[in-house]
Amino acid sequence: MLNFKKIIAEAISKVTNIKCEELETYIEIPKEANNGDYAFPCFRLAKELRKAPQMIAVEIKEKIEITEPITKIDVVGGYLNFFINKETLAKEVLEEVSTGFGKSEIGKGKNIVIDYSSPNIAKPFHIGHLRSTVIGGALYNIYKQLGYNVTGINHLGDYGTQFGKLIEGYKLWGNEYDIEKDPIEELTKIYIRINEACKQDEQILENCRNNFKKLEDGDPYCLEIWERFKDLSLKEFQKVYDLLGSKFDSWNGEAFYSDKMPEVIQILEKTGKLVESEGAKIIDLEDKGISTPCIIEKSNGSTTYATRDLAAILYRARTYDFDKALYLTSYEQTLHFKQVFEVAKLLGIDEKYTNGLEHVSFGMVLLPTGKMSTRGGNVIKLNDLLNEAISRAKQIIEQKNPDLENKDEIAKKVGIGAVIFNDLSNGRVKDEIFDWDTILNFQGETGPYIQYTYVRTQSVINKAGSIPSFENVEINQLLDEYSIRILKLIYSFEDVLKQVTDNNEPSILSRYLIDLAKAYSNFYNENKIISDDKNVQNARVYLTYAVGEVLKLGANLLGIEMPDKM
Ligand code: ARG
Repeated sequence: MLNFKKIIAEAISKVTNIKCEELETYIEIPKEANNGDYAFPCFRLAKELRKAPQMIAVEIKEKIEITEPITKIDVVGGYLNFFINKETLAKEVLEEVSTGFGKSEIGKGKNIVIDYSSPNIAKPFHIGHLRSTVIGGALYNIYKQLGYNVTGINHLGDYGTQFGKLIEGYKLWGNEYDIEKDPIEELTKIYIRINEACKQDEQILENCRNNFKKLEDGDPYCLEIWERFKDLSLKEFQKVYDLLGSKFDSWNGEAFYSDKMPEVIQILEKTGKLVESEGAKIIDLEDKGISTPCIIEKSNGSTTYATRDLAAILYRARTYDFDKALYLTSYEQTLHFKQVFEVAKLLGIDEKYTNGLEHVSFGMVLLPTGKMSTRGGNVIKLNDLLNEAISRAKQIIEQKNPDLENKDEIAKKVGIGAVIFNDLSNGRVKDEIFDWDTILNFQGETGPYIQYTYVRTQSVINKAGSIPSFENVEINQLLDEYSIRILKLIYSFEDVLKQVTDNNEPSILSRYLIDLAKAYSNFYNENKIISDDKNVQNARVYLTYAVGEVLKLGANLLGIEMPDKM
């Protein structure tokens, strides 16, 4: 598609001799359509040109030659407002739709690593992991759509002293628990019980520590039990991943780095920054403005979560040569990542890598009654939650459209889509309130609303009989304000994806899809689509088809599937 921003920047560049690339970044899209399609804020050049913005605007306007696709330039205060030929816009957009919409090469040659989901073995997959899975998954798809080379990593929490405890508990009372039937639940019970026992009996605690040591040293018995816990847990987690459609390129969890930590410690030791403190080895970060030191090795010689993350950074830099490495967890881990990213600068890797590290944090999920947590007892099992979403969606569909076929399949798409969209609809840093009635409201700003709008586009196409071919579309039938609003939105799709990756904020795409769905509803209400005038009908059906394609692509990128009917 023609790049209108670039064309405008080039025109301004010609008369100001300022670099086109710089100018392009200043161009804005006005909120009000009568302020033009693009606006250039001249105050950006005031310093450089030593003139008042208003004067700059007037001068540039006088000098610029108005040619296709620019049709008009207005000076409003210190702004230059540009108007684009609507026919050109419409033609550009629909041509792209006809040849396969949304391909992009923005990210070509760049490597992105996304560390997401990352639940802990033998512990519940909680709602925070759901957010990580959903936000990380959406970012994965969107980077990929922009042509980046993306690697998705599930950094499983499958290592640490708690496994020494679990192994001991299992040795002592394994036969009392049916861990095949309900692994996470039963293992959690064992874990609570062994913790109690450790408090009572120093010897048991000692045994637990030894187990972990044995596990690290590759003791076959301990390894076998640990692997069994891991397999059973993964089977449970997989149920959630199947419902969400989540996939990962790598399942290298914390244990994967067990033989890679000595190197990290060696490197850190050489820097002279690794110091002893109360028997532990730490790196002081006070001078970096972080008051808590990063513990690299505990006093009993075992490594930490942070050490494993450092080993992972080293490994990922070497293996994936990443330009960006993103970590998706709640903001509760802000300090951890601050520490780790600071210490990573001591690993002797290229600055490119340490600059590319980014903690993409998100807020908590709140029930109307308070925080959902694993500790507070207010635990909701994720698998149950997703299944409840499906059955609630089914009830609604049952009421609205009792004759529908494949209700179960559709309910799954709608229920899961509603949960996913809810997770992605607000800025990720905000705490989110989880409320069934809001997320499943077909008329709200929800996943089901996007799906419903898509279904509407498909039923319009069905009514028309077929999708007209692009050659039969008269562009000048689509110059009314409702059509143009849609065309402009579709035109900005790639830009929206770029904004998502610039900010690692998928809600920008969610917001966009809501805007597009609303714009289509307005178009649908204001314009008669099925008409006696075949030219009018062809054009409007084609635009309907375009909206459907973009809604579907956008929703799929968020991880939401589209039903054909609902
Ligand atoms: N397993 C951790 C948790 O559940 C999340 C891991 C995030 N990734 C990482 N590389 N630290 O809190």
